[in-house]
Amino acid sequence: MSMLFSHPPPAPSALRAAIAAAHLADESSCVERLLPQAALDTGALQRVDGMARRLVAAVRQKTLSFGGLDAFLHEYDLSSQEGVVLMCLAEALLRIPDAETADRLIHDKLSGANWEKHLGHSRSLLVNASTWGLMLTGRLVRLEDETAGDVGAFLERLAARSGSGLVRLALKQAMGILADQFVMGRTIEEALQRSQRDELQIYRYSFDMLGEAALCRTDAQRYFEDYAHALRVIAATTGPENTPGVSVKLSALHPRFEYAQRERVMAELVPALLDLAELAAAADIDLTVDAEEADRLELNLDVFEAVLRHPRLSGWQGFGLVVQAYQKRAIPLLVWLTELAGRSGKRIPLRLVKGAYWDSEIKRAQVQGLAGYPVFTRKAATDVSYLACAKILLAKRDAFFPQFATHNAHTVACVMELAGASRDFEFQRLHGMGDALYGEIASPGKLGVPCRVYAPVGGQRELLPYLVRRLLENGANTSFVNRIADQRTPLESVIADPLERMRRLTAKANPRLPLPRDLYDAWRNSAGLSLSGPAALAPLAQAMTQALAQTWSAGPLVGGALLPGKPRALPDPTDHQRSAGEVAEADEAVVEKSLALAAEAAPAWDAVPAASRADCLERAADLIEQHRA
Ligand code: FAD
Ligand code: 2OP
Repeated sequence: MSMLFSHPPPAPSALRAAIAAAHLADESSCVERLLPQAALDTGALQRVDGMARRLVAAVRQKTLSFGGLDAFLHEYDLSSQEGVVLMCLAEALLRIPDAETADRLIHDKLSGANWEKHLGHSRSLLVNASTWGLMLTGRLVRLEDETAGDVGAFLERLAARSGSGLVRLALKQAMGILADQFVMGRTIEEALQRSQRDELQIYRYSFDMLGEAALCRTDAQRYFEDYAHALRVIAATTGPENTPGVSVKLSALHPRFEYAQRERVMAELVPALLDLAELAAAADIDLTVDAEEADRLELNLDVFEAVLRHPRLSGWQGFGLVVQAYQKRAIPLLVWLTELAGRSGKRIPLRLVKGAYWDSEIKRAQVQGLAGYPVFTRKAATDVSYLACAKILLAKRDAFFPQFATHNAHTVACVMELAGASRDFEFQRLHGMGDALYGEIASPGKLGVPCRVYAPVGGQRELLPYLVRRLLENGANTSFVNRIADQRTPLESVIADPLERMRRLTAKANPRLPLPRDLYDAWRNSAGLSLSGPAALAPLAQAMTQALAQTWSAGPLVGGALLPGKPRALPDPTDHQRSAGEVAEADEAVVEKSLALAAEAAPAWDAVPAASRADCLERAADLIEQHRA
């Protein structure tokens, strides 16, 4: 490896190798292994069912009278055309820098949708108010459209009347309202104040300073300052009781948070995170490293371990990590973390989530042509994995302080069953979501389990990727928050047992999501490589080293025979210091001969049908794939 990689990644320990091996593992075998690990006995299942029923009934009762965001997001779920339009707008509108393009997008998206359909459907004021707004703006554009006759004249008139500017402002405002639902405050000061206004003070908090995927040093530095400032403000204004925590995404703190830049990330990011962790440790503020895209996992773990074990943080137990149950690596990851906790003498606050990047994980694996998906392809498989992980967390409480982040009443009921009488754990929800359910969990006299709210802090610009994830999550018709909001979905179906469902299914992987290589009916997708960890890099490096060891000798191939020529040394095109071998160059006579042969062969080649020519191309493609190292 060292020949090719200036800084070869370290050879992984056995437990880390097990994590890497599960990255794109066969889904059916993963699920088959998980089922017994997650199993509950009949008595337990009955109690879970009873509690889930009570929770769902209570939540439905409350949402009937309140309405609000849940109702809005349900009304516009992603199975309706309008839901998709809203999603596109939310994502695109805030990104578009110039008014003209924004107006064109609005016109394009709004004029085709059927907003009237949603009017008066829902009892929620928010839904109906927004529908009126969308209908008005939709109608505005459409009426003009109808009377305009031709598009050119229509656009001209619209621009002249500055009507589209108004529409744009109205829509931005609407998106702003949506965004405000998910943000606790623009600044940490504002967010802290708001958290202290909470009349019952039933919640703990973890503030997220909304940074991710920094693209330059300036951004990373700014996010770092935001975090440092938040930690200082929290330290100065809160007491030792229920001190709020802070959540951070490592991709915010470094512009190249990717495995290929491992050495640089370890040298530059670890000290920065260590500084933040020291600030947190001094005031005993829990600092949690969020889980991001699957490609970032290996690097996340390397950085987490380096900071957790740093002598400057010895004795502090507040450095936590998030584990995503939808990843096939979740179980081996918990096994490694158990060992890491023991090795470093720490109890790790561990937040278990299902995972917020499902759609993009699927798409990315398809684009990259990977051997499999890093995540499960059935929702119920993720639920089963969550249960298996929950069991481990609750069984290893010397290694972990378990934090169960979910808005799903059935998942809550399962965790309650697994935890028994113990209250040495907490539940977590996102700000702006799950209020009704958490009223049942956290309010005095109810379940009596401590709850923490993950509270994003910042402006609309920083919120965008987070907001899109929330809209996808709430808009998906498989998601619990969406189903519970739909009074037409029978209670039995909302709280259906995922274990039972997965056991019953013969195809454990979702047949509607073929593996990336089988994506196309007519041809095999090209095979890609995940460069996100040592699992693919090590064998690649080995194969490349082997390929390099070979000395090539090339010459003119004419009429199927290798002809002699004037020899010339061949430097490796990727590194001129190195020789790749030797080439014999063709002279004029050889060129003439090959041209004559080609002319002779032309009529026969002309007669070769397209399909056979395609076969040649495909064979070439296969050979390139086979010899890519
Ligand atoms: P459910 O409706 O029961 O589950 C929905 C989830 O199921 C989806 O989000 C997805 O994970 C999974 N899913 C959906 N469809 C499929 C499918 N076809 N195949 C397989 N799986 C599927 N997420 C992160 O990624 N990183 C974090 O650091 C993080 N921090 C969080 C902190 C808190 C406090 C909370 C509450 C959530 C956090 N999340 C994080 C978001 C979390 O991943 C989602 O909110 C969560 O997945 C929703 O799960 P649920 O139990 O509430 O809902
Ligand atoms: C997200 O950013 C909550 O960390 C989770 O989507």
